[in-house]
Amino acid sequence: MAKSLEIVAAALGAPGGGILAADESTGTIKKRFDSVHAKSTEETRRNYREMLFQTEVAMRENISGVILYDETIRQKAKDGTPLVELIKAAGTIPGIKVDQGAKPMAGHPGELVTEGLTGLRDRLADYYELGARFAKWRAVINIASHIPTPACIRANMHALARYAALCQEANIVPIVEPEVLMDGDHDIERCYEVTEATLRSLFAELYEQRVNLEGTVLKPSMVISGSKCTNRAGVEEVAEKTVHCFRRAVPAAIPSIVFLSGGQSDLDATAHLNAINSLGNLPWQMSFSYGRALQAAPLKAWSGKTENEPKAQAALAHRAAMNGLATQGAWKPELEKATP
Ligand code: 13P
Repeated sequence: MAKSLEIVAAALGAPGGGILAADESTGTIKKRFDSVHAKSTEETRRNYREMLFQTEVAMRENISGVILYDETIRQKAKDGTPLVELIKAAGTIPGIKVDQGAKPMAGHPGELVTEGLTGLRDRLADYYELGARFAKWRAVINIASHIPTPACIRANMHALARYAALCQEANIVPIVEPEVLMDGDHDIERCYEVTEATLRSLFAELYEQRVNLEGTVLKPSMVISGSKCTNRAGVEEVAEKTVHCFRRAVPAAIPSIVFLSGGQSDLDATAHLNAINSLGNLPWQMSFSYGRALQAAPLKAWSGKTENEPKAQAALAHRAAMNGLATQGAWKPELEKATP
């Protein structure tokens, strides 16, 4: 395997930084824009994302990689510079979402399976030419009384492993993202059980498909109570159970684990990551690949108006800095008071 895969996989989770997930599909970004009464057009999406990628301090200091959507990786900034070049100039690695969404799984009510393997080899070659050096594929596991079924877990983890093998063949680092959704009233024990089964299945499939773990990044959800659980676990328990579960199920050969935020509040996502890293003595780098937990504040500050861009960039820089500290267990709630 090319040495470059190992270098990129380690760089993406290096302490102090993490990934900005800016790969919302056109449908999802429209929902985000609607929430702040901003119009979603190809131009406004470009303007918003260009503003994020021009947040110089954050990009240089605390953002190791940016995940792009197909539209964005082909777009140019207002001055004609490709957005990919802006990202590279800031010393950040461009990446690309390559899955084609989680679709209802036949014969399995309430469960989803992610599509996108057909034609993936050709798409990866194209994305490499456009500058992508890592990719992302998200599998979705739902928790309810009778689900997930073993068939749903296996189908999704098999697809993730097939995707990862194709990425490495194309010299692109695969981010494998098995998201166990927070939706529901389940407790943290149930999340632990489903997360462990999912991760064990994922690594069995990766082994079978001959995926090199040193050149792979894991993007998991944390072990956490369901969003409607009445007896929610606190920050310390989330950190302890997450690390306990991962020690059982995630090989130490994985260089970087970058969590998704999955609907956690900005502050919860930072506090949990900080508590995880405060446990110390971990075999992996533990960092972030946040979408909503990095973008909620800048999106609100921006609200579709050019004159708000400096405020929005300050909001992104602040959240990126807070999460950068959390990768080192050095974040403190008092630091949030400096919020712009
Ligand atoms: P969230 O952090 O908003 O969950 O998004 C991360 C992501 O890339 C989901 O696929």
